[in-house]
Amino acid sequence: MAFLLAVTGSASAPGTSRTARLVHDLGRQLAAHGHDVHHLDVRDLPAEALLSADARDPDVARAVDLVARADALIVASPVYKAAYSGVLKTFLDLLPQYALHGKPVLPLATGGSPAHVLAVDYALRPVLTSLGADVAQGWFVLDRHIVVDTDGAVTLTPETREALAPVVDRFRDALGAGARLAAA
Ligand SMILES: Cc1cc2nc3c(=O)[nH]c(=O)nc-3n(C[C@H](O)[C@H](O)[C@H](O)COP(=O)(O)O)c2cc1C
Repeated sequence: MAFLLAVTGSASAPGTSRTARLVHDLGRQLAAHGHDVHHLDVRDLPAEALLSADARDPDVARAVDLVARADALIVASPVYKAAYSGVLKTFLDLLPQYALHGKPVLPLATGGSPAHVLAVDYALRPVLTSLGADVAQGWFVLDRHIVVDTDGAVTLTPETREALAPVVDRFRDALGAGARLAAA
C-alpha cells in the first residue's frame, strides 16, 4: 500500500473545480485498491506565502512535508494559456530541487480545447522531471467530459473513463514496482 498524495493546482474553488473532481474520482479508484490517498489543494495554502515563496510558513511547510513523505503523487492542473496553472507553479517552486526524486508521479490536466492536449507533455512533464520524478504517462481530460450533476455528483463520460482506465492501471503498476524496490 502506497501513501499517495494528490496535488491539485486549480484556481477554482475545490467545490467547483473540474480538475479537483477528476482527481478525487481517481483518488477513490486508487483507494479502492488499498492505497492511502491524501489530497492537497494548493488553493487552500496561504496565497501570500506562496507568492513570496515562504517555505517557513507552517501550512506551506506541512504541505512540503507531505510531498516528502509521499511514496507517489498525482499532480493535476487545469490548462491556462496553453500551460499548467500559476497556482500549481507557486507550490512547485517552493519544493526542494529533487523533491520528487524516485517517486512515481501521474500528471493530469483538464482543459477546454483539444488543441492543448499536449500541455501535459510539453509543460507539466518537464517541470516534474526536473524535480526528479519518475513521470508516468499522463492524461488530458476535456472539461466538458467531467459532468457535474445538479446534486453535485460527478460523472466522467464513458469515453473518458475508458481512456483513463489504462492510465490508472499503469500508474498502479508503477506504485507496485516502487514498493517492491523500497522493500528490496
Ligand atoms: C484563465 C483561463 C485560461 C484558460 N486557458 C486555457 C487554454 O489555454 N487551453 C485550454 O484548453 N483550456 C483553457 N482554459 C479552460 C480550463 O483549462 C478548463 O475549463 C479547466 O477544466 C478548468 O479547470 P477547473 O474547473 O479546475 O478550474 C482556461 C481557463 C481559464 C480560467
